Amino acid sequence: MPLINIKNLTFGYDGSEQTLFDDVTIGIDTTWRLALAGRNGRGKTTFFKLLRGELPYSGTISGVPETVLFPNEDLPDIEEWKIRKELNLMGADPDIMWRPMDTLSGGERTKLMLAHLFAGDGIYPLIDEPTNHLDRTGRETVAEYLSSKEGFILISHDREFLDRCCDHTLMITKTGLELVASDFSTWWDNNEQRMESERSRNEQLKKEMSAIDDAMKKNAKWASKAEGFKNRANAPHKVAEDHFRRTYEAEKARKLMSLSKNLQKRNEKKLEEKQGLLRDIEKTETLKITGSEHHNRTPIILKDVSLYRYGEKICEGIDLTVKRGKKISIQGPNGSGKSTLIKYLAGTGEEEGITAEGDIYIAPGLKISYAGQDTSMLEGSLSDLAAERGADKTLFSTILVKMGFTKEMLYRDVTCLSLGQKKCVMIALSLCEQADLYLWDEPLNYIDIYMRKEIERLVRDSGITMIFVEHDRAFAEAVSDCEMSFC
Ligand SMILES: Nc1ncnc2c1ncn2[C@@H]1O[C@H](COP(=O)(O)OP(=O)(O)OP(=O)(O)O)[C@@H](O)[C@H]1O
Ligand SMILES: [Mg+2]
Repeated sequence: MPLINIKNLTFGYDGSEQTLFDDVTIGIDTTWRLALAGRNGRGKTTFFKLLRGELPYSGTISGVPETVLFPNEDLPDIEEWKIRKELNLMGADPDIMWRPMDTLSGGERTKLMLAHLFAGDGIYPLIDEPTNHLDRTGRETVAEYLSSKEGFILISHDREFLDRCCDHTLMITKTGLELVASDFSTWWDNNEQRMESERSRNEQLKKEMSAIDDAMKKNAKWASKAEGFKNRANAPHKVAEDHFRRTYEAEKARKLMSLSKNLQKRNEKKLEEKQGLLRDIEKTETLKITGSEHHNRTPIILKDVSLYRYGEKICEGIDLTVKRGKKISIQGPNGSGKSTLIKYLAGTGEEEGITAEGDIYIAPGLKISYAGQDTSMLEGSLSDLAAERGADKTLFSTILVKMGFTKEMLYRDVTCLSLGQKKCVMIALSLCEQADLYLWDEPLNYIDIYMRKEIERLVRDSGITMIFVEHDRAFAEAVSDCEMSFC
């Protein structure tokens, strides 16, 4: 049983106040199909870097076999028949191995990289979020493929996908690492139950703490009363005071003060103990979006529209009517033209040679906010990004803090953020804009389950008009008023 041994691992990035791993000791059997999960920014990708010895840390990590990382576009040199075999297992056209990477669709690229990962003998695959560019069928095929393999670590925020692929779960929680011999959902359901009882325990503790707090306030009043006695006892008196009265007041003051100090100390201690018992439960803050309302009730009408990229037809026969206040989900397989349509409507298509033909109506003066799929072009500081987009810096920071950013992260260069945090930046920029129409292309890629739920609530409960592409079925079903399908 080959085992990776991690002992007393402690790590935090230089200059960051966040300790990602604090004295962690665990063993990982390399034959497991291990799910690595946790909220955005908890350190999943960093954990891979630590296993690969790419970052300095304290403690020891031993027994790590030769690893190979996904995503990695520098494909290792492996015999052709082996790659072909793996691609066949994923139902992909083996000829894609001869095509340059930048001509492949997201799904094809993912399958080609995975094929290289598993074609190498005795190499341990570390797979970081493979589902993001896969459509539903692609996800199912890849899940089927991974479940037939053994010995890898897989990071994903897609619960269904993790369940289908993995037999063990390593969870990075707020308080440390939890390793269980079960699929992700079993961990999740147990955790939900545990959290539910923690929540009611927290409620009880909070009540007790508030009672102690009241007692402390009363006590503070006593103390000030005692102070009054003391002052009176020490004050110069007009007439010669009765010696006994003065002594009595001084003694009373001393006793009250001492009683009050003791009580205060006892209560502070009790409060501290209760505070320690309060569990850190995962939570999300409420986000807000304030769209504007274009005067036109039907701001977009497309009839029999074809889309082209550098003159080459991508898709045809698009019919789409967008009513004000409605949310439209665009569905379709990889490469069918969903992002092309979104970019065309956003007015950013020109850079990629996107043109359209057909009956097209876009209401004049329509204010559009676009959150694209790709985060790789984000660079520089967050305040520069806000300035570029004309976003209100305070609002932008407030939204990011609600999304879990610390103050220190707000001053960081975007390149030093996790993938999910980068995606949060794109969504936050869009939330800062008051638009008549929001165009979101796969907004939930890289976003953790808790934040997904909050974004779902935000879109569903708001009156904004939106067109979005999202492979997360639960989200699409929960927020969309209608669906438009590409074949
Ligand atoms: N080079 C860096 N310098 C400073 N902090 C960094 C750097 N790279 C990552 N971080 C921070 O370390 C934390 C962990 O990052 P990591 O990429 O490991 O998270 P993750 O769990 O993979 O998140 P996600 O689900 O969003 O991909 C984050 O808060 C991130 O902002
Ligand atoms: Mg990551």
